[in-house]
Amino acid sequence: MTPGDAQGPLGPEPAALGRRILHLREVDSTQDHLRRLAEAGAPHGTVVWADEQTRGRGRRGARWEARAGDALLVSVLVRSPALPAAGAALSLVWPLAALGVLARVLGRGATERLAVKWPNDLLLDGGKLMGVLVEGVEGGAVVGAGLNLALPPDAPKERAQLGVPVDREGLLHALLKAWDGASRIALERGFAPFRPLYRTVLAYRGEAVTLATESGSELGRLCDVDPQGRLVLETPGGRRAFWAGEVQRLRPGEEDPRAAPP
Ligand code: BTN
Repeated sequence: MTPGDAQGPLGPEPAALGRRILHLREVDSTQDHLRRLAEAGAPHGTVVWADEQTRGRGRRGARWEARAGDALLVSVLVRSPALPAAGAALSLVWPLAALGVLARVLGRGATERLAVKWPNDLLLDGGKLMGVLVEGVEGGAVVGAGLNLALPPDAPKERAQLGVPVDREGLLHALLKAWDGASRIALERGFAPFRPLYRTVLAYRGEAVTLATESGSELGRLCDVDPQGRLVLETPGGRRAFWAGEVQRLRPGEEDPRAAPP
C-alpha cells in the first residue's frame, strides 16, 4: 500500500487510475514511455498521454499512426497481484467501459452505432474507433488505448473517427474514471460480471467470420463470448472457444459454405 491509498470495507484499495498524469507533446510510444517509468518504480495508476507518437504500435506488431492531436493516445499502469492472470479480462472490459463514456459524448442514438469487436476493438458505425493493447510489466500491466478523434481524408475506410469536438483532457478524465471502476471489478472478479453487457454490444454476432490465430485461420459463425471471455465460434467441427485471435467478418458474397449455420 502506498500513501494516498484508502482503506475500503474489503481492505486496502488501490488509488484511482490517473493519480499521476504525464502529458507529452511527442513520444516514441506512450506504452514504451510508461514501461520505462514502471521499471523505475512508478505507482499503480500512473498515466502517460501524448499528442503524437513516432513509434505507436498496436496489437500483433501493427503500427498505430495518427496525426498530431487527432487521437487520444494514452497508456495506464495497472499494478495488481491479480495480473497477469486477469489480463484478458482487463483487456475486454476497457472498450466496454469506453463505450459508455463515448455514447454519452455522442448523444442520442449513439448506443446503436457503437459495438465491441472481440476482444477489444471499439467500433463506430462498423469502423474501428479505438484499439486497446495490454502489455505485461513486472507486477502489472501497461494498458494502452488509441482513440481516433479525427481522421485524414485518405484514412483506410475500416477506421472510424469520433467526429465531434471534444476537450481531450476532459474526455481522458472521463475515460480514466470508467476504466478505473471496470478494472477494479475485473481484477477482483474477472470477466463474468461484464458478460451480459458485453454480449449486447458484441459485433458480428451470428455472422460468418474468420479468426486468425497463431496456429492458423478458423472459419465459423460467431456465437458468443463465454464467462472467461473466450470467443465462441460454431465451426464445421463443432463449437469451439478461443482465447486470442483477430476476427474478420466475411462480407456478403464471401460467405463460405463451411461456416456452420446459426
Ligand atoms: C490495436 O488495436 O492494435 C491496439 C492499438 C493501441 C494503440 C495505443 S495508442 C497509445 C498506446 N501507445 C502505443 O504505442 N499503442 C497504444
